[in-house]
Amino acid sequence: MSNWFIRIENLSVHIMTAISMPICSGEKACSMPSSCAIVLRNVSLPEGRVADIGVMDGIVTHVGAAGGPADRTIDCTGLMVLPAAVDMHVHMRGGSQSAKEDWASGSRSALAGGVTVVVDQPNTIPPITTPDALCARVFEAKSHSLCSFAINSGVTFDTPVKAMWSVGAMAFGETFYAPSSYGEAITPEELTTALREIQSCCALATIHAEEIASGEDHDLSSHDRLRSCSGEVQAVRDVGRCNTVGCRLHFCHMSTHASITAAAGLGSVEVTPHHLFLSREQFAPEDTLGKVNPPLRSEQERKNLWGVWDRIDIIASDHAPHTSGEKQVPFEKAPSGIPGVETMVPLLLAAVLEKKIPLADVIRKTSQAPAELLGIPLAGFAPGNRADFSLYPKTAVPIDPDMLHSRCGYSPFAGLPAVFPRTVILGGDVVYDEGEFHPGSPAWFPGKGFFPR
Ligand code: DOR
Ligand code: ZN
Repeated sequence: MSNWFIRIENLSVHIMTAISMPICSGEKACSMPSSCAIVLRNVSLPEGRVADIGVMDGIVTHVGAAGGPADRTIDCTGLMVLPAAVDMHVHMRGGSQSAKEDWASGSRSALAGGVTVVVDQPNTIPPITTPDALCARVFEAKSHSLCSFAINSGVTFDTPVKAMWSVGAMAFGETFYAPSSYGEAITPEELTTALREIQSCCALATIHAEEIASGEDHDLSSHDRLRSCSGEVQAVRDVGRCNTVGCRLHFCHMSTHASITAAAGLGSVEVTPHHLFLSREQFAPEDTLGKVNPPLRSEQERKNLWGVWDRIDIIASDHAPHTSGEKQVPFEKAPSGIPGVETMVPLLLAAVLEKKIPLADVIRKTSQAPAELLGIPLAGFAPGNRADFSLYPKTAVPIDPDMLHSRCGYSPFAGLPAVFPRTVILGGDVVYDEGEFHPGSPAWFPGKGFFPR
């Protein structure tokens, strides 16, 4: 369990002499601490027991009756305490796209939504398709992010897969099997070759599977038709056929129940909150705030998606902010994308309060499953776990875009009920409390192929 993350203050990206901190040995994790940096008192554990959780050096050291003294105690009576979320599909923008979002605003948005780890997508400008670009991206995140992070490698016909893996790419993709905002599609032949290389690294390939028909894209209905549900199913099957070598596959943002069925046995499946909570019928026909790829579907399809809730492996936001100005243009010209990292867990928790889904499912699909898939240490309630927690009240409020932290300043989820965290803990430090941010020690999680040079 050592060497699993990089404290970013120790990171010198360009020479890549990153120093990994062994932080969790078996003996230390299981011993009763004489004192703790922080103790969460009266935590209702998912199995129903109430316990105190002691934390030291960023790790859970004690779960049970009150341990020794602590620098700080937080009474969690009446709160829902969740292992903080890992959002494995976030477009943090930055660089020349900082008017949409940057690491400072995006990571504040993440923390204020109970997310302590984000996995950044590589369709940046320039795209993350060279080792230098990936190292520069880590440096940019290290300099500005308030939350922990990982960076994916892009996948194009000439991406040097092994080199990207060795400089710390977490996973490969999202790989565009159809073009989307800032993402150029690759051909089936190129994908077949890329999957062979990714498989030889034992890495994970994440796929944006869509099929696009030609025609006029003038409103949400035509957008749904041009990037159809049946096209998504077909793309999933085609990608499966390209995977001649059994590479580990993950299908991003599946928007229909039929694609989830099609992906069975081919790879893990991710669904976004916007496909679960929004349908195109909830918007005026030409409202560009609802324009996203894959598109918002019909109300009936949205209900069908909830019908396969148990077969969804992971919920991720596909946080993809654009400026209001960029969205205020004729529909056909507007960029696709919906911001959502801050509202993902809050929307799901409102569904928990409405007794639509169990709390354990939210923990599984937003925290445990993405961490396991990516090889990030688990946050949770056992000694040795990463001490990232989010503490929520048991009351929902309507989403008010003015209260959110993304630079884009709007939310297509406005008005929907949501439960926002009161307090967020990252690596044992309180980094967000009652609307205020506090400094913490975010980490970079490189992929398993990372080889410090
Ligand atoms: O709607 C989308 N926007 N879908 C994507 O796959 C990319 C994203 C973006 O980066 O804006
Ligand atoms: Zn995508």
